Amino acid sequence: MNIIGIESSCDETAVSIINDEQVLVSLISSQELHKEYGGVVPEFASREHMKNIDSLVAKAFDESGLTINDINGIAVTRGPGLMGALLVGLSYAKGLSFATQIPLIGVNHIEGHIIANFLNHPNLEYPFLCCLVSGGHTQIVHVKDFQNYEIMGKSIDDAAGEAFDKAARILGLGYPGGPIIDALAKSGNPKFFRFPRAQIKNRPNDFSFSGLKTSVLYLTKQEKPEWIKNNIHHICASYQEAIIDSLQKKTFKIQEEIQARRIVLAGGVAANSRLREIFQKKAAGRKVEIYFPSLAYCTDNAAMIAKTGMEMLKRNRTSSLDIKAIPNLRLID
Ligand code: KG4
Ligand code: ZN
Repeated sequence: MNIIGIESSCDETAVSIINDEQVLVSLISSQELHKEYGGVVPEFASREHMKNIDSLVAKAFDESGLTINDINGIAVTRGPGLMGALLVGLSYAKGLSFATQIPLIGVNHIEGHIIANFLNHPNLEYPFLCCLVSGGHTQIVHVKDFQNYEIMGKSIDDAAGEAFDKAARILGLGYPGGPIIDALAKSGNPKFFRFPRAQIKNRPNDFSFSGLKTSVLYLTKQEKPEWIKNNIHHICASYQEAIIDSLQKKTFKIQEEIQARRIVLAGGVAANSRLREIFQKKAAGRKVEIYFPSLAYCTDNAAMIAKTGMEMLKRNRTSSLDIKAIPNLRLID
């Protein structure tokens, strides 16, 4: 079985072709123009997707050595994401499906991040507990089976990736903040400054990250720019530690409660080197299996969309041509 995946929910146009055994090609065209604005500008995103998508699909066929006649399903992200951006990929996929009569499979982007793990770990077994950390979402999900989810904990405000991005913006480090803070933190002391770890009353499994960025803001107002500059690696390390600390404590608390034998990381923030290290150590101490995708499949990509589409197609969960893009699509209703 060969599946083409198309992803255009945010600022990455991505196309991938996979078969049952492997990823044949996974192409990503990142939109650099948003950097200048310190975040994604929705209008620019859709325009860039329109410019890129057709040539990226052509390139994917070229590099995989396949033609459209070899394809069994067209998987495409239908949400969540930016409406205009989603529409570009979805309309393109619908057009392709209509012209070729190849089944269309509308995929949930969040689910794609979870399923990305199977690209690297084909023998991963259900059930598992997934710490899903991206730029838009932070959820701890009990994945009982394919498309059988229970949300065990979530952020009540900012997502973990957002917390990285906002701090980086306040500190003038650039966008996206996660990889920049990750790199700077490597030479910093995580105990240099104690950022708050929010506890929410009567909701022990939930997160709140919005207070964190306010603490950074205060710090930049209290201290001289020179001091901030000289200690930037320590500030990054301490800030990163606060995010990871909350994530690992709650994930492992829930792991213990439900006696999960496997923990799986997913989403852009799962690319964080310190997060991977801490989760790995803690899992080893508890004899819990730990999995995370390779770096390329943590952040947005189309191979994860193709993989999710493949699993759906195998279960005959295809979509009609009138499905809509859903900007606020959730993992479960
Ligand atoms: O999953 P993703 O590519 O897009 C969404 O679906 O949101 O996640 C993007 C987020 C951004 O907030 C980015 O700063 C963060 O993932 N990120 C990281 C790292 N690489 C990407 N955060 C921390 N450390 C990293 N190494
Ligand atoms: Zn994503």
